[in-house]
Amino acid sequence: MKTSQKTLWGGRFSTSLTTETIAFTHSIEADTRLIGYDIWGSQAHAIMLARQEIISDADLQEILHWLRKAEADFQNGDFTLDANKEDVHMNVESYLIENAGREFGGKLHTARSRNDQVLVDAHLYIRDEILNIQRGLSALCDAFLQIAKEHADTVMPGYTHTQHAQPISLGFWATAYVSMFLRDQKRLDAAYALANTNPLGACALAGTTFPIDRQLTTKLLGFDAPHEHALDVISSRDFIAETLFALSLVMANLSRISEELVYWTTYEFGMAVLDDAYSFGSSIMPQKKNPDIAELTRGRTGRVYGALLDLLTNLKGLPMGYNRDFQEDKPPLWEAFDVVKACLGMLPGLLKTTDFKTERMAELANANFATATELANYLVKEHHLSFRACHEIVGWLVGELVQQGKTFADWELTQALLKQREFDISISQLKQILDAELAIRNNQSLGGTSPAEVNRMIDVFEEQLNEIALRIYTCETQIEAAHRETLRIVEEVLG
Ligand code: ARG
Repeated sequence: MKTSQKTLWGGRFSTSLTTETIAFTHSIEADTRLIGYDIWGSQAHAIMLARQEIISDADLQEILHWLRKAEADFQNGDFTLDANKEDVHMNVESYLIENAGREFGGKLHTARSRNDQVLVDAHLYIRDEILNIQRGLSALCDAFLQIAKEHADTVMPGYTHTQHAQPISLGFWATAYVSMFLRDQKRLDAAYALANTNPLGACALAGTTFPIDRQLTTKLLGFDAPHEHALDVISSRDFIAETLFALSLVMANLSRISEELVYWTTYEFGMAVLDDAYSFGSSIMPQKKNPDIAELTRGRTGRVYGALLDLLTNLKGLPMGYNRDFQEDKPPLWEAFDVVKACLGMLPGLLKTTDFKTERMAELANANFATATELANYLVKEHHLSFRACHEIVGWLVGELVQQGKTFADWELTQALLKQREFDISISQLKQILDAELAIRNNQSLGGTSPAEVNRMIDVFEEQLNEIALRIYTCETQIEAAHRETLRIVEEVLG
């Protein structure tokens, strides 16, 4: 079925689009969240056009008046995006033309293309969302640091291959996640920097013959600098890929902590109990208490990976210039932001309210030969033997004890077996060597699990988090100041 409406680009076309074509091609759902950014970009562009005398002051007044009205109407629901007008850009321009008339409204698109316009919107939107995610990650780091401060000398089993490895502290475990998420912050910083250049003025792909001032729009939109190359920026979506990669790793990391919480809260592990407010029951089994939030976080990770793969696949076949394929970049990016924000909204609270079962942790840390390495180290130090020789001796000891169904804590036997290998160690000394708490206290190498090192790392990470908080604040201030300046000019022009 044909529609009666002619599009803004319809000059050379003799018939209008069918409703099916419109339904297939429009991007209204994805674009709705861009309207504020689109209007800000248009305000900056119009102000620049007037400053450069490309349009008149009267044109500017009319354009700014209707842009402001469009935003207000959108807020109060009087202006909704219409799929017949394809996308947010054409909707806003159509609103202007319908209200201000073609003579005024039709001038906004001078020296601009939807190709640079859509990039402006995406750059502005990504900037805000990256800062949101960074704030959420910092809150998560704070939750881990709170655990670390409380538990710098709480022993727990450290695992490799999910098998008892060596004792560590709960605080050491918590700071490991802080260390990990701080790298996510760095990746997001880098993605932010890539998004913080100004595409506006690249126009369709080649720049323009109008005497535009790209520095001015850069300033009004709070970007660091104009993006240097018109054709490159029009063709670029790698800033989105970088963002999605950073978000994918955030999700990988959130999924890993989720996985740990899932099995730590099992009856078998018994190392943590989630707060009731963060747990779910079963419709049939009355006793159940399930870690659904952690599972959903783990389960939603694929959606973010999917977004990255979607975009990377989109990009691989595209020639230089704008391609309509680019329109497909937004839904997965929105999805990724939404998923990560939702997960980050839950996990800090969940962690802060989790009851870590420190007695159970201590029991496990002292069980299952978890301090065997300490005994080997002791033999190396006291008897000046090679580590490999001591590893063999302790390995043999563990093998003997396992065979007899015993543990290190069967002290007489442990002592007797060591004697067979000509080591005379008193039981009280053995208890010290094999004590998990003493073991972690003595692991004082840089970055090790000793409480001293954990406390040092807490200070280092807090310092880094303060720097991140300052950077987020600086970015927000830059964005807000630019927006305020744009709006100040709008008010000044409109009187
Ligand atoms: N809706 C389009 C997108 O998201 C905007 C750019 C359209 N440009 C064009 N030449 N068709 O990519």
